[in-house]
Amino acid sequence: MTTSLKLTDICDQFDRLFPQIDVHTHPSLEAVKSARSLLETAIASDAFILDCIEHELALIETSKLGSGLIPFFVQPTTGVQFSFGYWSPGASPGPHVHTAWTLTAVCRNTLNVLTYDTQTAIESGDLVIKKNIDATQGQVGFIHRVCVHEPINTSDRWTWTMHVTSPLDGQPSDEFPSDRFQFEQEQPVISDHPFSEVVRSRQRRVRLRYLRSILMTMSCERSAACLATCDRLGVKSQNHNLLITESPIKAQPYSNAQNRTYKLQRTHADLILKCKRTDTAATLLVDTPNGPEELVEMDPIAEPALQFVSQNLSFSADSLPGELSQLEQYQISETLENLGIYRSYT
Ligand SMILES: [Fe+2]
Repeated sequence: MTTSLKLTDICDQFDRLFPQIDVHTHPSLEAVKSARSLLETAIASDAFILDCIEHELALIETSKLGSGLIPFFVQPTTGVQFSFGYWSPGASPGPHVHTAWTLTAVCRNTLNVLTYDTQTAIESGDLVIKKNIDATQGQVGFIHRVCVHEPINTSDRWTWTMHVTSPLDGQPSDEFPSDRFQFEQEQPVISDHPFSEVVRSRQRRVRLRYLRSILMTMSCERSAACLATCDRLGVKSQNHNLLITESPIKAQPYSNAQNRTYKLQRTHADLILKCKRTDTAATLLVDTPNGPEELVEMDPIAEPALQFVSQNLSFSADSLPGELSQLEQYQISETLENLGIYRSYT
C-alpha cells in the first residue's frame, strides 16, 4: 500500500491527540489507539519513512549515539519521541517496564513480544507471561499505561522497528513503585576510554548499512539523496556480508586501484590493538575498560595483515601484507570498519 503521509501530517494529528509537553497528563486509551492506526498507515508510506530516515541520518552525523533507543526526532509541541530500533538476530533488551504510552511499529521483518502481568510484577517482582505476540512487518503494537514487556528478534534476519513514545515514559510512576526493573531509556556513552569510540563507530555503521539496504529498495530523488548521505558518511560498500538485506547484492571483486583509495584510520589514536597467533587462527584483540577483548578470528593467512593493522593507525586496503587476494584485502579492511576500530576516509 502506498500513501503520501508525511511526518508533519502525523505531528499535526498528534497535536490533536496528545497533551502539550508542559501538561504532565496521560492521554486516553482512544487517543493512543488512534495514534497507533495513524502510525500503521504512515509506515507504509515511503514519504514518511524517508522523512524519518533523513532525521536519522542527521542524528548519525552528529555522532550522538549511545545504547538503547535514541530519538531521531522529538516533536516540540507534545514532546513525543520518535526512534528507530535495529535488532540483530536474537537481540533483546530483556524485560523492562514502560511507565507511559508507547507505540512499537515493525517496519521490516518480525518481532516477538512477551508481555508480563503488571500487577504480579508490582506485587512480587515475578514475571508471569500474559501474552506472547508475534508482530509481523507493518504491525504496530501499543502500551497505554504501565506495562512490563520483553521484545526479542527470534528470527534469523535483522529487524527494523520504529518506536514512538510519550515524554513521560521512563519517569517513575505511582502505579509502578517497584525498582526491580530497568527503565528503557537512552544510555549515553560517557566513558572516556578509547573503546567508547569503537562502540559508537559500530552503532553508526550498523545504522548506516541497514538504512542503505532500505534505501536501495526505493527509487526516487529523496532516496538517492539519502544514499549519497550514506556514502558521504562513509558507507559505500555494497557487500552486505554482515546484514541480511532487503535486496541482496552480489559481492564484486575489488581491484588494486579501488583498494588503493580505500583508506582507513583508527577510530581513536589511543586505541590499543594486538594480534595473537595460534596454530589454527590469527586473532585481533582490542583493549577495553574490562581488559583485552577478542575482536575477530581469521585464517592464519591473515596474520601478517593483522600484525600490520595493530601497528598502524592508518593504511589503505592495498597495503595489507601477506598472501592475500585483492578481494581478501578489501574484506579484511571492511571487517575492521564493521568492528568499529577503523573508519574509512577520503
Ligand atoms: Fe520496550
